[in-house]
Amino acid sequence: KASTYQPGSLARFPEISHGVSKDHVVAPGYEADILIRWGDPVTADAPAFVPGKADPDAQEKQFGYNNDFLGFVPLNEAGTRGLLCVNHEFTSRSVMFPYDLRFNSPKELAETEMAAHGGTIIEIAQQSDGRWVTVQDSTYNRRITARSTAMDISGPAAGHPRMQTSADPAGTRVIGTLNNCAGGITPYNSYLMAEENFHFYFRGKLDDSDRLWRTAGDLEAACAAGDATHPEARNYCRYGVAMGGGYDWGRHVDRFDINKEPNEANRFGWVVEVDPLDPTSTPVKRTALGRFKHEGAESITNRDGRLVIYMGDDQRFDYLYRFVTDGTVNETDRAANFGLLDTGVLSVAKFSEDGTVTWMPLVHGTGPLTAENGFDSQADVMIETRRAADLLGATPMDRPEDVEPNPKTGKVYVALTNNSKRGPAQRDAVHDRAPNYWGLIVEMTPPDGDHAADSFSWDILVKGGDPSVPVTGAQFAEGTSANGWFACPDNLAVDPSGRLWVTTDQGGGWAQISGSADGVWCVGTEGEDRGISAMFYRVPAGAEMCGPCFTPTGDTLFVAVQHPGTDGALAFDEHARASDFEDPMTRWPDFNEATPPRPSVVAIRKEGGGPIG
Ligand code: FEO
Ligand code: CA
Ligand code: CA
Ligand code: CA
Repeated sequence: KASTYQPGSLARFPEISHGVSKDHVVAPGYEADILIRWGDPVTADAPAFVPGKADPDAQEKQFGYNNDFLGFVPLNEAGTRGLLCVNHEFTSRSVMFPYDLRFNSPKELAETEMAAHGGTIIEIAQQSDGRWVTVQDSTYNRRITARSTAMDISGPAAGHPRMQTSADPAGTRVIGTLNNCAGGITPYNSYLMAEENFHFYFRGKLDDSDRLWRTAGDLEAACAAGDATHPEARNYCRYGVAMGGGYDWGRHVDRFDINKEPNEANRFGWVVEVDPLDPTSTPVKRTALGRFKHEGAESITNRDGRLVIYMGDDQRFDYLYRFVTDGTVNETDRAANFGLLDTGVLSVAKFSEDGTVTWMPLVHGTGPLTAENGFDSQADVMIETRRAADLLGATPMDRPEDVEPNPKTGKVYVALTNNSKRGPAQRDAVHDRAPNYWGLIVEMTPPDGDHAADSFSWDILVKGGDPSVPVTGAQFAEGTSANGWFACPDNLAVDPSGRLWVTTDQGGGWAQISGSADGVWCVGTEGEDRGISAMFYRVPAGAEMCGPCFTPTGDTLFVAVQHPGTDGALAFDEHARASDFEDPMTRWPDFNEATPPRPSVVAIRKEGGGPIG
């Protein structure tokens, strides 16, 4: 029953309309079921969710907060049993816990937040009626957390003095993973968790100021003036470490204070590889893939057998990266592939007006990446990937999010979500709108399907925003309906027939960007369908749309509804209330006054079965 649609074609379904609702909305003829919510049991011995409590040990066994990346690893031929791999990116304290608990901020609160970060691996099964359920007693089920999961460090930076801490003098083992946004499933079914905004979690001083309170702007000024004196100041200034971000973990846990443990922040900002098929395996931080605010890590086996991983560094004016392994994917011996990501070449992209993308290798000893510029080894190049890429003259992008290769067409799609800070003088061929509130999708084409080639060609697929409002400069192809346009593309997925699906994250300012909720769109990429977009699903009020993931047959689309009830709200206390944006705040999906809104995974299927779209 696999889909027979052409690769790159536009899916056909009755479109939904732009809007904002307390509930989610899916295209007519489709069903959207809640699969798992924050606090639901993951391990067999997990206690039931109790709203309003901070219980770190319970949270270690329950589904974490803010589900983002979703990956599916099939356990049978039919794809009706599998492991769902889920990232838990961050926590939203003001929605999760009642005011008294937040005000007193006990250690249990920070520890519960640490336990709500990381990942979940849980077995799911499709019942005879088509619905998916979690298998709670499965031995595959595990939580990976920022609080307790030990991880190995491998690759060029492993063991380097800058990776050493008092708890880990060898610099090879770290507790936990932070801010896992998107990720990837490799062709050999390992689960890649990308560490994105790791800087939020660290506190401390980068300079000698004894002022009790300094704003992020003060710190930025100290960094710019060269007044920062911390031993990792140049590095931490570039990544924004200790410049504020809201978490107070460093008050309770010393390693999150950069004055008590100066190197700990060097141990985050990596891609973590997990073997979901071995629940006792130790996750590994693969430092050969560089250290930056990794959005995701989607991969494809190149025609010569090497693995190619595409990665965005999601910050305004940061870069697009590619990693090509030295070795090749072993299709007969799965275990032989664990280690593939430790040797290879990381490159950063430079986009030219003539329509080419050049991949510039980040290799110690070449070009400016020498001791003269503070790079004594490949470890230094990886720990300070951004500064190395600055020196090579990489193209500053409008926040690169997901980067998705399409195995059916050989093309690669880059979601550039937005950049409110790009000024008119900073326009270039890729980024011709300044400021860019609406984002765009760039298409890259490797020559002869060679994803390891030194240069690709590039083109723009669509420019986000409402095309009926000329100031947006939005561009969708003719045939896109009044509901078909979107703003702020974030995650991308390619369905089994090779069609592109896009999810959006307009952030807290969504009311000004589109006035409509985030959601899922299908975008045609080939022939007459190219650049036409159609709206399939939208999230409940205040949420962001993450994690689009198809089962191998294409008959189920899993999506992750992140932080319902928060974006667009000025505050959220014990009671849901309308915000100044007339946002009908929601208690989705429980709609129970005693339960806060909960991030949840949703399974979407066609009524009566068959491929989505
Ligand atoms: Fe966590 Fe770049 O979105
Ligand atoms: Ca994202
Ligand atoms: Ca993706
Ligand atoms: Ca985003």
